[in-house]
Amino acid sequence: RAASRPVALGSAAEIGAFRGDPRYREALKRYCDIVVPMNDLKWDALRHERAGFDFAGADEIVAFAEANGKALRGHTLLWGEALPPWVGEMTTRAEAERELVRHIEVVVDRYKGRIATWDVVNEVIKYDPTSGGPWRDTVWQHLLGPEHVEIAFRTAARTDPKARLVLNDFHFEERDAGAAARRAVALDICRRLRDKGIPIHGLGMQAHLYAERTIDIDGLQRFMRDLDALGLDVEITELDVIDWKMPADAALRDKRAAALVASFLGAVASAKRPKAIVTWGLTDRYSWVGETFPRKDGARARPLPLDADYRPKPMLAVLERYR
Ligand code: XIL
Repeated sequence: RAASRPVALGSAAEIGAFRGDPRYREALKRYCDIVVPMNDLKWDALRHERAGFDFAGADEIVAFAEANGKALRGHTLLWGEALPPWVGEMTTRAEAERELVRHIEVVVDRYKGRIATWDVVNEVIKYDPTSGGPWRDTVWQHLLGPEHVEIAFRTAARTDPKARLVLNDFHFEERDAGAAARRAVALDICRRLRDKGIPIHGLGMQAHLYAERTIDIDGLQRFMRDLDALGLDVEITELDVIDWKMPADAALRDKRAAALVASFLGAVASAKRPKAIVTWGLTDRYSWVGETFPRKDGARARPLPLDADYRPKPMLAVLERYR
């Protein structure tokens, strides 16, 4: 069933398509309440030089969102990927802390009062926390230890006290031991931040859904209730469907994708209304899914609510039920 109150819908915006394809911008205007720069707030976009910041791409998307009355999410202040080479050359704890703090201060301050919500940290939970977790082995974990998460949240909160701060991660929704362990770890991180008085407002579920896997309805509902008990919001931050193992038939894939999204959102919303539902792109014309999960038959991936010619797919109707 749909949530009782409307949910803001949105999409990530990829800068190449955004600049080059007017239909892409029209689709963002038409279908989104929220826009997220897909790659332009990542370190490798902003910080190709250690000394300075390059806000060109992010500024364009932020300006577009503001001109069209869209809310913004910021993705992301700390991640173990999409880093410029110089980050890997840091050797000391003091250096890493200094760079991380300065980065977050400058970026959050620039968009203070404009980017309302930040994915403060992205993918900090180890893929399989049952084997030597819970932290993912990144340059930040390596140099700063588990404290990297606290430093990031503290700095973001200090720089923009009104911003909503989110812990964003993936693989929470499946019926397997890994996902169950990841949910427990996420709750634990949130609880610890809370106990230390460090602000955190929400948990972001990326929700890159694998078409061949099963949603853990009960597990998700429990997770929602646990988040609720902690006073945290939940946001769906990068929804799409990875359909590389599905049969070729496009109509069948679209139907399966819509059903999967319906079952996922249904499980979430029956226990707790999400604060936002954001897809990782809008049209099958541009998506990371086909590049990262290429199909053996060479057919185009169909992960998103609009097809490659911007025609609405069944998934769009599922999303619109929540709006
Ligand atoms: C992806 C983008 O969609 C691609 O354009 C880019 O080349 C790589 O990153 N989880 C995340 C996102 O948190 O930032 C990733 O985005 C997809 C997986």
